[in-house]
Amino acid sequence: MTIQIRTTNALEILDSRGRPTLSVSLTLTDGLTCTAGVPAGASTGSGEAVEVRDGDLRRYGGRGVRSAVANVTGPIRAALAGRTFGDLAELDETLRSLDGTPDKARLGANAIVGVSMAAARAFAAAADQPLWRYLTPPGVAPALPVPHFNVVNGGVHAPNPLDFQEFMLAPVGAPDMAEAVRAGAEVYAVLRARLAAAGHATGLGDEGGFAPDLTRPEEVLDALVDAIVAAGYQPGPEGVAIALDPAASQFHRDGAYHVAGRAMSSAELVDHYAELIDRYPIRSLEDGLAEDDWDGWDRLTERLGDRVQIVGDDIFVTDPEIIADAARRGVGNAALVKVNQIGTVTETLEAFRVCRETGYAAMVSHRSGETLDTFIADLAVGSGCGQLKSGAPARGERVAKYNRLLEIAEQAPDLPYARISRSRT
Ligand code: PGA
Ligand code: ZN
Repeated sequence: MTIQIRTTNALEILDSRGRPTLSVSLTLTDGLTCTAGVPAGASTGSGEAVEVRDGDLRRYGGRGVRSAVANVTGPIRAALAGRTFGDLAELDETLRSLDGTPDKARLGANAIVGVSMAAARAFAAAADQPLWRYLTPPGVAPALPVPHFNVVNGGVHAPNPLDFQEFMLAPVGAPDMAEAVRAGAEVYAVLRARLAAAGHATGLGDEGGFAPDLTRPEEVLDALVDAIVAAGYQPGPEGVAIALDPAASQFHRDGAYHVAGRAMSSAELVDHYAELIDRYPIRSLEDGLAEDDWDGWDRLTERLGDRVQIVGDDIFVTDPEIIADAARRGVGNAALVKVNQIGTVTETLEAFRVCRETGYAAMVSHRSGETLDTFIADLAVGSGCGQLKSGAPARGERVAKYNRLLEIAEQAPDLPYARISRSRT
């Protein structure tokens, strides 16, 4: 199936944090227009593909994206307009070679990923397929992913004293997508009531989770287990399990990890995680250590890799080559997948392929700065990876993705709800 491009367009819009991002559109010669909203992170890995921002301090504190918009309406339009493409890989390769840098710094990963996502939608439409089906590689079984609801926010996503960034609920034992969403929303509601009753503020962090003035991870984990039980669910693999993203690069300073007022070595922090995993029904630990602490990651994987999923975000940055390297070395056992971290949909699909071939699990992820775009819901289904994190079951930009999963489940009743293999037992 081919597409012929008439033009590309872009607009500077706001993301969910009130910062500028791009809405990108691609119009085909047959008149069809496909759009994409570009996500943006806050706790970014240093190896991520590079966003182009204006740096003009008179606008949005330098965060404006008019220059990235100009790249979509200038050089990218000039390279694509009037051309016919046989597949997305060919189009993405054109974007990459037009950019010419290893990290997409010239045209901007924000500009490029928007075009790539819009183009994926155009190819899906040309093939008369829903996006998730188009994104399913041959031989891969699509599945509805277990949603990972980030219900307590800390780190750089909230102004509270919590050092760990994300505390997630994973309804791994739910029978289907609708029940999984219900479990997340019901536990979230109970958690709000209990935090309020204990005198905590129930304002929200960037990803829609509560941001109470708690300091120790154990206090949050106790509150989560209580809320799961009070909402009528079983904590653990048969019901609602817990996933953590401490985002440790953010609290790693001067050679130590700073958690709840304690300075810990890498080995001490691994001991701390082991204790938490002994005490709480944790199934997944993302970025437990900093992105440059590969020796620590070796230790972490060796010590806990057969008990929980060890997910690399900042350390792998959705880069197929880094994931392949990590797999050779046995670092981690899962990769977080963020489309804007690598910059094209084709390279994202490549990252999933490396995960499948090396036996690594994969989890699709939103960014702290989001739009109403639901691309990642389709990506999570199509990849068959079985896991999606898209924030709390609250705030429009977060629930848009979960609502899209409900819609896909309704439209494709034969799609299974994922059974995740590396659950804690
Ligand atoms: P970010 O954080 O989108 O702010 O980078 C998300 C994450 O660390 O998983
Ligand atoms: Zn992360």
